Amino acid sequence: VFADVLRAPEDPILGVTVAYNKDPSPVKLNLGVGAYRTEEGKPLVLSVVREAEKQLVNDCSRVKEYLPIVGLADFNKLSAKLILGADSPAILGNLVATVQCLSGTGSLRVGAEFLARHYYQHTIYIPNPTWGNHVKIFNLAGLTVKTYRYYDPLTRGLNIQGLLDDLGSAPSGAIVLLHACAHNPTGVDPTLEQWEQIRKMIRSKSLLPFFDSAYQGFASGSLEQDAQSVRMFAGDGGECFIAQSYAKNMGLYGERVGALSIVCRTADVATRVESQLKLVIRPMYSSPPIHGASIVSTILKDRNLYQQWTLELKVMAGRIITMRKHLFDALRARETPGDWNHIIKQIGMFTFTGLNTKQVAFMTREYHIYMTFDGRISMAGLSSRTVPHLADAIHAAVTT
Ligand code: LMR
Repeated sequence: VFADVLRAPEDPILGVTVAYNKDPSPVKLNLGVGAYRTEEGKPLVLSVVREAEKQLVNDCSRVKEYLPIVGLADFNKLSAKLILGADSPAILGNLVATVQCLSGTGSLRVGAEFLARHYYQHTIYIPNPTWGNHVKIFNLAGLTVKTYRYYDPLTRGLNIQGLLDDLGSAPSGAIVLLHACAHNPTGVDPTLEQWEQIRKMIRSKSLLPFFDSAYQGFASGSLEQDAQSVRMFAGDGGECFIAQSYAKNMGLYGERVGALSIVCRTADVATRVESQLKLVIRPMYSSPPIHGASIVSTILKDRNLYQQWTLELKVMAGRIITMRKHLFDALRARETPGDWNHIIKQIGMFTFTGLNTKQVAFMTREYHIYMTFDGRISMAGLSSRTVPHLADAIHAAVTT
């Protein structure tokens, strides 16, 4: 009965790893998926995560019962505080409904399903370009996806005027997806002044902001700094959705741990919203997994572990920034044609190189370098040892 099922294409991001795994070349390099690697090219489990896991294993009172539908209570409280700040008026006024979800994707999807059921406006504006999964998540939840201008390929920076014009002409109440920091894939973020312009536009048109926060602490190395955009919106009295992921900033990729927070206008509304989120979650996956959320809450509630985490985050963010410098220097040393300043200007895990599909295909074929077809490379997958290989490949791609 399934004889007519067509073979589906691989995912544009995760499929890069599938192709990489099949390549027998010893020099192959995976710069596709945004996953942190050490200088030795190895995945990293943070020491603070190992320490938290030790504590969890040694605690014999811990059981493997189902979590409540909304997840671990401590985890939810601490996650909302982490992104909004402990002194946020939204936290102090109990205006936030937070539910534990399956990392960033799951948080976005639960938020989108809630919006499709309970919000009058079903159009969501996402930046152009954006993370490839956004379109699918929102479409499948029943929302209509439109784009707003974001990236200017000429300046390799933000098209703030285009962005404001597009939001300005969006229908009143439309949902707007915003990357809290370290925009994926471009690495281009608004300045604080530009965020303020965006906030004013969103509030004046009664648009609904939905933040995707996948890189808190990973962009600048500071958890506070990377939360500034969200805090501007969450502190102004209006509604706001936030999807948080601990994949990158705690290296908990496979644990699938994240949170959806909805900032409401009153505490009573927040409790009603939470009750409806339960109705979204229960038939979808019943309740979330316990292990990852326990690691996160162990770290967030212990002063020393929290401190240790912030230090490890700084090391990861710092290594990525160093890789930017190394790659930039390597291209300069090769006198590779083009302006490569954006490599050191862009923020977060990715560099949006400006390389086209043909050049990417060439680099994969000739140099066994794997990256997404939009020319995005994960700087977190690069090391001092592999920078020369990448620089040679880019040089050859733009000169042949
Ligand atoms: C990425 O963009 O590489 C990451 O967010 C991983 C993913 O799930 O796509």
